[in-house]
Amino acid sequence: MTKITPQPGIMDIALYQGGQSHVAGVEHVIKLSSNENPFGPSPKAIEAVRDSAATLNRYPSTDHASLRAAIGARHGLDPARIICGVGSDEVLQFVAQAYAGPGDEVIYTEHGFSMYPIIAKMAGATPVMVPETDRRVDVDNILAAVTGQTRIVFVTNPGNPTSTMIPEVELVRLAEALPQSCLMVIDGAYAEFVADFDGGAALVDRFENVIMTRTFSKIYGLGGMRVGWGYAAQSIIEVLNRVRQPFNLSLTALAAAEAAIKDEEYLTFCHTENARLRVWLADELAKIGVPSDPSSTNFILARFRDQAEAEACDDYLKTQGLIVRRVAGYNLPNALRITVGDEEACRRVVAAITEFKEGAA
Ligand SMILES: Cc1ncc(COP(=O)(O)O)c(C=O)c1O
Repeated sequence: MTKITPQPGIMDIALYQGGQSHVAGVEHVIKLSSNENPFGPSPKAIEAVRDSAATLNRYPSTDHASLRAAIGARHGLDPARIICGVGSDEVLQFVAQAYAGPGDEVIYTEHGFSMYPIIAKMAGATPVMVPETDRRVDVDNILAAVTGQTRIVFVTNPGNPTSTMIPEVELVRLAEALPQSCLMVIDGAYAEFVADFDGGAALVDRFENVIMTRTFSKIYGLGGMRVGWGYAAQSIIEVLNRVRQPFNLSLTALAAAEAAIKDEEYLTFCHTENARLRVWLADELAKIGVPSDPSSTNFILARFRDQAEAEACDDYLKTQGLIVRRVAGYNLPNALRITVGDEEACRRVVAAITEFKEGAA
């Protein structure tokens, strides 16, 4: 008898490892492993969530017109060229599902977000990993890996877990050199943490084959709501909408995201606090021999002597109720990714790593 079997390649997909949130035996933990906003969502988003409860008997909007208008107004973009998804993860998945399949190649970079190879495989395509140079995306390495089968190139700007930026000229160089048959996805999950940065929107306007993705999970503090969006040429948005379920975003999620993006005051507060605490955290750790690249995000990538020291430090932090992220799976074995928390969290991280370095561990 023939057994039920999944499609070829499905069982090769490694399950996504999320940031840890509990430590056995430790009660009051501070989670700094998933780059969440330590200040929570905008109070206006919380109010919108409460208000939405009374109409949950109704299906949500299928075209997300109101949220797309709000995003368009905030960023000066044409709402007709915006698509919303269940987190930017879903938008990234639409791109892979619609544009790559068996026999196609999908390029991502050495320290790139771990969902890229997962969604490439979900689409039946072959992920191709390209080396970075000193924790920075290397455009020459990407171009050297492009073949006639390449359909998508994923880059993150600023990068996760590296926190580094790809210079604009390099992105233009990449977009100009890629064949028209190949899409370039600029994942801007952390774009709001960079001052005066459009996340790649101008490049989308300039190149037909460039897509930008963004999220409400990071600076807007709505990771639990699952809302992201993408901006691309009209022709691409029309394709992506065909693989999107009509009610992918709940009424509550739409209301929360719209309220959040309209609350500019709260956005400025989160941006300013993150920028201040990020510099303080990086400087204090550098003083005790734990360097990091200048960060353009809401985390720092703290570098240790070697993998053993990074892991020992992580173990010590856990005993202190501090959960950070090991990134050996991103080919960064000697580093720990530490989300910039609130002031208390940053002070506790510095104190604990100082104790560890002084041998108190
Ligand atoms: C680089 C990058 N892209 C995309 C995402 C997905 O975010 P979400 O699906 O919550 O929008 C994340 C989340 O950690 C990320 O770090």
